[in-house]
Amino acid sequence: MRIYDIIAKKRDGYELTDEEIAFFVRELTKENIKDYQATALLMAIYIRGMSDREMITLTKEMAASGDTLSLSELGITADKHSTGGVGDKTTLIVAPIVASLGINVAKMSGRGLGHTGGTVDKLESIEGFRVSLSADEFISQVKSIGIAVVGQTGQLAPADKIIYSLRDATATVGSVPLIASSIMSKKLAAGSETIVLDVKYGSGAFMKTTADAETLSRKMVDIGKAAGRKMAAVISDMGTPLGKCIGNSLEVKEAIEVLKGNGSEDLKEVCLTLAANIVSLSLGTDTAAAREMAEKALANGSAYEKFKELILSQGGNVSQIESPDKLPKASTVYKVLAPESGYIAEMQAEIIGSASVILGAGRLTKEDSIDYAAGIILHKKTGDKVTAGEAIAELHTNDDSKIKDAERLFLSALSFSNKKPEKPPLIYKVIK
Ligand code: URA
Repeated sequence: MRIYDIIAKKRDGYELTDEEIAFFVRELTKENIKDYQATALLMAIYIRGMSDREMITLTKEMAASGDTLSLSELGITADKHSTGGVGDKTTLIVAPIVASLGINVAKMSGRGLGHTGGTVDKLESIEGFRVSLSADEFISQVKSIGIAVVGQTGQLAPADKIIYSLRDATATVGSVPLIASSIMSKKLAAGSETIVLDVKYGSGAFMKTTADAETLSRKMVDIGKAAGRKMAAVISDMGTPLGKCIGNSLEVKEAIEVLKGNGSEDLKEVCLTLAANIVSLSLGTDTAAAREMAEKALANGSAYEKFKELILSQGGNVSQIESPDKLPKASTVYKVLAPESGYIAEMQAEIIGSASVILGAGRLTKEDSIDYAAGIILHKKTGDKVTAGEAIAELHTNDDSKIKDAERLFLSALSFSNKKPEKPPLIYKVIK
């Protein structure tokens, strides 16, 4: 078999066989395929697309290209994945809710890049929290307390790592079969039986429209089912940041508020929808009963207690959870004032995420370091009425020189209107 012939076949619009796809993934992982040939094939896939069979085979081969976790000894296991967003701290809330209901969560999470944040960075803002556990520590923690959250190791789906970096450099990221196989290869390799995906749509998401988010969701759900997993995808709005806080320690604080039964309604709603779907698929209850169980876990404090157990088990300073004022705090808090009166018609999540990166909350390249205290607190959100001169947000940073640039960018994300705007649906659809 020759990679040259596989490229030519896809270039001309023909379907690849399972053997050809397996050859590509295997030889690429062994570094036997030149970057220029791999990217030629990825561009041909980008332009010609893939059949469902090709996409499922590609995903399974990528999942099998490195370590695969076998979690069967743990009993009921569930995982969630977000396609990425601004202010998205749902893992910090959903994972303890479902773990408190007896569903094991052995979760591998990512770091933030560009305008989107990552769960691992948020957890690292807690003093002492260890995101690298050995495989044995990871499994034995899940056995004893039902939850562990760690950073993803390089050995999980290494073919995806290679393919993603080539796509990133060659304008081939935005292809549904390539995105679906990339995300699902890592989820399949991570081993959980139930997988619930939070697929975002809107300005801060990969998928800008509900139609594109639905197409991607359907493909990922079908891939998971073909691999024998219990699957659902919740399509949720990322036109506006989720909740009120953006930035690592600020988001941990907000997650604690929700775990204590308070917090923003939009954030709580997305978390409860995700948790209800995980519980329903994992325990076989209907979604309404599952939602009630999740609500109860928040109301009776069991999800909050589970979160504290997670932090303690991984070496984190629990007193920062009990007294969130002890979490990293910025030296400067700057109030952004409304430049005009009216309703906030738009608050574009991607731009606000980028403003928080300027303040130090995120990284532009993988090597950049993070200021855990930096970020933004939104006092007002899309649909709210404001008066000129009123504080609409706080910018938090340890580097004063960044304030003016961040403020300029933040304000460019907003538009105002005299009429109350119609908000896009927070939860557009659940695909099963
Ligand atoms: N996230 C991934 O892991 N892969 C993609 O291709 C896009 C988003």
